Amino acid sequence: MPLLYLAGKMERTKAPFSELVSNELLAAEQLMRERVVEIHPNLDYAVNHLLSAGGKRIRPTLTLLTGRMLNSDREKIITLAAAIEMLHTATLVHDDLIDGAAVRRGKTTLNAQWSTGATVLTGDYVFARAARLAAGTGSVELMKIFAKSLMIMVNGEISQLFELSSSDLRKDYFERIQAKTASLFEVATYGAALLSDCDDHLKIEMKSFGYELGLAFQIVDDVLDFTSDEELLGKPVASDLRHGLITLPSLIYYEANQEDPRLAQILNQNQIVDKDLEKLISEIKDSGALESALLEAREFVISAKNRLSSIENSPNCEALIEMADYIVDRHF
Ligand code: IPE
Ligand code: IPE
Ligand code: MG
Ligand code: MG
Repeated sequence: MPLLYLAGKMERTKAPFSELVSNELLAAEQLMRERVVEIHPNLDYAVNHLLSAGGKRIRPTLTLLTGRMLNSDREKIITLAAAIEMLHTATLVHDDLIDGAAVRRGKTTLNAQWSTGATVLTGDYVFARAARLAAGTGSVELMKIFAKSLMIMVNGEISQLFELSSSDLRKDYFERIQAKTASLFEVATYGAALLSDCDDHLKIEMKSFGYELGLAFQIVDDVLDFTSDEELLGKPVASDLRHGLITLPSLIYYEANQEDPRLAQILNQNQIVDKDLEKLISEIKDSGALESALLEAREFVISAKNRLSSIENSPNCEALIEMADYIVDRHF
């Protein structure tokens, strides 16, 4: 039975949509583990630590299903899937370092074990492995969108570090999630389409499909930060507000309670004591903001699925639709 690798408890669950590509996913896993040059045992340990921790493998699954649906070259699609998951893994290494997170995919992060220098370098090494894999597709166009997506992600993170929030918090939020998440989901589907012979219109539809799923995926991640627990998610929860990060649920709460001084305090990067923060979190949870955020995520998923309407129905297309639904229905 095909498996979806879970982060936290290292449980596995059935993911029917990944069934069609389980062999290709295994092949992508092998490619990710291929050592190209001799590496230091510590670097080898780190890469194994990252890859064996699991993760949901959403992005490579998306690439593989899109590629199968569009009859893309099988080997190239597997290589692209490996490249995208590798790039994603590298961004997590740096994200956890920046956030000071101690747990990821249910395991101790590298930054909790190693110096900043060693962690940054490991992330760089994983980025390089991702770039080499992307080059393995032989498509210059693909390499360009791959590199562009990474530029967008890094620029998004830097903007978040340096800029205070503007007067339009909603615009800020969507710009941030476009950069950090939707841009890579876009590569997952657009890249697969570029490796096929489908017409230009469909390529653009598949690009938007990935992009909208990426927005929905990040909104749900932001909701799970309020509702889930560390064991299930395999990473810290209730951490966004604690880090001064206003995500869609708190934004929706703020839009309805503009006079509440606590969010302004967080936005102005003033410390808020733990007790007050917990109270604010539970008020946000009780306000209906999480449900409203999920509705917004669902709208993106509906729009994404509509983009598949011109495609002849097939098991691959159905699996992509199931996957789109999973993105908003998931609990981890
Ligand atoms: C985490 O991504 C980072 C976000 C964009 C929210 P995933 O939730 O896909 O993480 P893994 O790969 O399953 O660990
Ligand atoms: C995604 O956002 C981070 C990257 C794209 C690297 P989050 O910061 O919400 O991801 P988690 O919650 O730490 O996985
Ligand atoms: Mg993070
Ligand atoms: Mg998050």
